[in-house]
Amino acid sequence: MAFHQPVLTREVIKILLEGDRKLFLDCTLGAGGHSEALLEAAEQPIKIFGIDKDPEALVLAEQKLKNREGIVLEHGDYALLDEVAEKFGFSAFDGILADLGQSSDQMEDSIRGFSHRFDGKLDMRYNPQSDLTAQEIVNEYSASELTDIFRRYGQERMSKQIAETIVRSRPVVGTVQLADLIRKSCPGKYIQKTLARIFMALRIVVNDELTAIEKLMPGAHKLLNPGGRMVFISYDSNQDRIVKDFFRLKSRICVCPDILPVCVCNTTPELKILTRRVIKPGPEEIETNPRSRSARLRAAEKLTISHEKKN
Ligand SMILES: C[S@@+](CC[C@H](N)C(=O)[O-])C[C@H]1O[C@@H](n2cnc3c(N)ncnc32)[C@H](O)[C@@H]1O
Repeated sequence: MAFHQPVLTREVIKILLEGDRKLFLDCTLGAGGHSEALLEAAEQPIKIFGIDKDPEALVLAEQKLKNREGIVLEHGDYALLDEVAEKFGFSAFDGILADLGQSSDQMEDSIRGFSHRFDGKLDMRYNPQSDLTAQEIVNEYSASELTDIFRRYGQERMSKQIAETIVRSRPVVGTVQLADLIRKSCPGKYIQKTLARIFMALRIVVNDELTAIEKLMPGAHKLLNPGGRMVFISYDSNQDRIVKDFFRLKSRICVCPDILPVCVCNTTPELKILTRRVIKPGPEEIETNPRSRSARLRAAEKLTISHEKKN
């Protein structure tokens, strides 16, 4: 059974299905919720190619989507979209979706170690074939490396204290022990947030998530047909910044220095940003699906023609 409820689904459908778009790539199938919603909402036959790095997510998606027409599923990594497209035999899509991070199903699976609420192994890999686990990071990295990870990817103020407590208490063998050490380092009323931040930071490093998103952005842009749209849903500021910066870079109409009176750069924007303001879930969605509260959606369209320059 899948727990995951897709986030900002109405907005995803509106952006991706508007116009005459038919061919889609879902880079983060999870339990297949977004893909299912797109298939249901489409007024004409569409085709979705879906990947996930986690083989267990693929099993869930397959269960949910097995009786649906128009969907093809494969194990794949969005950091390697060229390979993915080749596997599917397509070189361009009308719409690309990436709902970044982890699913509720991964969170709720105690064995995989994503959650501080359950006793599990310090694993946290999306792909069980990859080498690095949270166990290795927690038990082998130096206190200063751990501090840096907790600060950079968790934005945690008490990073140094937590890192030092961990290093002093090794070996750390499971999620509950790690959570207890975090509680011991910084007791207080914000402890739930601290726990979530430290676990998130470890998950990001185990799966090299930010590097993967940095590769996903140009990969997705390249695979879009002109007029095609891409939608990204982020759950923390590090993810969202990569999406925002890429959109800014590709939508620039001029890169001339400010001192020049007229534009001489001939820059051609490649993307039109569709979400001048980031889209967030409303109170109703947050109430029915509390995990949606940190979601931030950004979308852009690949341009077909260059815009005329204003001098
Ligand atoms: C938030 S969930 C997606 C949920 C999905 N949209 C749904 O409606 O069920 C994110 C998914 O992305 C997957 N993922 C994370 N990194 C990935 C990567 N580099 N390539 C492909 N999938 C990845 C995770 O395994 C997880 O299943």
